[in-house]
Amino acid sequence: MHRIGTLYGVSLGPGDPNLITRRAWALLQRDDAHWTYPVRGKEHESFALTIAKAAGLKVPAAGEALVFPMTHDRHKLETAWSQAAERVLRVLYRGTDVLFLVEGDASTYSSFGYLAGAVSELDADIAVETVAGVTSFSASAARLRMPLADLDDRMAILPAGYGVETIDHLLNEHDTLVLLKVKPLLDDIIDLLERRGLLEHAAFIERTGTPEERVVRDIRSLRGARVNYLSLLLVKNPYRERGPMIRGCAKKPGRLKEVQTDGAQ
Ligand SMILES: C[S@@+](CC[C@H](N)C(=O)[O-])C[C@H]1O[C@@H](n2cnc3c(N)ncnc32)[C@H](O)[C@@H]1O
Repeated sequence: MHRIGTLYGVSLGPGDPNLITRRAWALLQRDDAHWTYPVRGKEHESFALTIAKAAGLKVPAAGEALVFPMTHDRHKLETAWSQAAERVLRVLYRGTDVLFLVEGDASTYSSFGYLAGAVSELDADIAVETVAGVTSFSASAARLRMPLADLDDRMAILPAGYGVETIDHLLNEHDTLVLLKVKPLLDDIIDLLERRGLLEHAAFIERTGTPEERVVRDIRSLRGARVNYLSLLLVKNPYRERGPMIRGCAKKPGRLKEVQTDGAQ
């Protein structure tokens, strides 16, 4: 029977080659697989490919850039996904496995989800493997020495584009906010954090794990500054009001016990 290739979403972590998993590394050593990687436009570089190069991996000459435009125009996006999927399918039908290189983790705000979805829509029998990876925010939290969540903390991860009203509201409900894609709203977010007395509980990081990495703890100093798209904010809210937590088995409501949220029982 004619062999059909498998599509792999190969997570490379946020920039530091040491955060590439062994599974991703093994796949990228293969010389019988076809490399693909996302770009915003034909003339743009792929950050995922940059990570692979920085890791010293041999980039195959036949590597192929797939265009995923940065737009909210649904029609343009869907056209790009299906064009990328058709190109990938042609390679898979030749019996060659396709590696789609992804920055960070392929399951987290990644173009791999769209690509895999569009490929499966065209051919539901295509085998797909998602290789788990280190996200930008887990690497950033480690770098900043700011734990994402402890004990019964609540955490929300979102693109800052939801706006300051949503962020303000989420701060009431969470101990940690991870704000991605902060570039266009940074000044407004700084104002909000200042109003809420949270500036000293927030940190900014840009290009985590790359030689250009920048950490800013005094985020006031970023007012009016131009920052890179590859940047995020971690915000802790030590003032969140916590309700009681219920401990026990849901099947036995009569025996449920209320416990303190600080871990004391
Ligand atoms: C489309 S999302 C990609 C998320 C990625 N798949 C992950 O697992 O973290 C892009 C956003 O992730 C964040 N990001 C990705 N790589 C980063 C890095 N190296 N340093 C800081 N933030 C990064 C930025 O907020 C950026 O705007």
